[in-house]
Amino acid sequence: MVKKKFIKVAIDSPAAAGAGTLAKSISKHYNLLYLDTGKIYRIIALTKIKQKNKLDISFLKKKIKNLNLKSLQNKELLSDEVGTEASLVAKNKNIRKLVHSFQINCAYNPPKKFNGSCLDGRDITYKIVPDADFKFFVTASLKVRAKRRFKELKNLSNKSSYSKVLKSIKKRDKNDYNRRISPLKKTKDSMLINTSNLSKRACFLKIKKIIDKKINS
Ligand code: C5P
Repeated sequence: MVKKKFIKVAIDSPAAAGAGTLAKSISKHYNLLYLDTGKIYRIIALTKIKQKNKLDISFLKKKIKNLNLKSLQNKELLSDEVGTEASLVAKNKNIRKLVHSFQINCAYNPPKKFNGSCLDGRDITYKIVPDADFKFFVTASLKVRAKRRFKELKNLSNKSSYSKVLKSIKKRDKNDYNRRISPLKKTKDSMLINTSNLSKRACFLKIKKIIDKKINS
């Protein structure tokens, strides 16, 4: 039997660029454990909103340690309010430290049934999985991202307006690109994938071609 090679895929991207959809389809195709790392910051943000701004670090520590991947599917995490709060809590050095070991463990020690891992976020290519076999920076124009997020929120029956969504994505970009700790950036060794004018299928095929070429060589 041919032993499948263990592969690690790292993706960084600004908000609503389509990285999550892409990462999910890649993970499914290559049987990789998928982790949307933004959801962990969103869980912390939601906890903060519910606790009315009092964040207890030792409570969070326990929460992250016992985190179940299923809890990342909670629909409450998808709101714009939680996303914006997540980009604020993600500036905190202690909070980032808290979630790093969970993310690193998913990337390097996925359950045996998987052939590797695929993580997406803001600091994955240079902080969490710096030795990833494949690194991508997935982006799209601001307007395209705002349109996509607006559509997503509408489907969730969230009553946000397009201009509100555009404003909140701009704010998030500002927070994510300019923060001092682990800012969003494209590393030199990441391949740029601009999804503005590409269908989901076209994006997937573009990445698949790159991965297949390397694993079959
Ligand atoms: O990807 P998503 O929009 O769910 O991320 C929410 C926020 O979490 C981002 O705006 C970013 O500030 C933060 N984040 C981060 N590092 C990651 C993933 C997300 O700082 N690896």
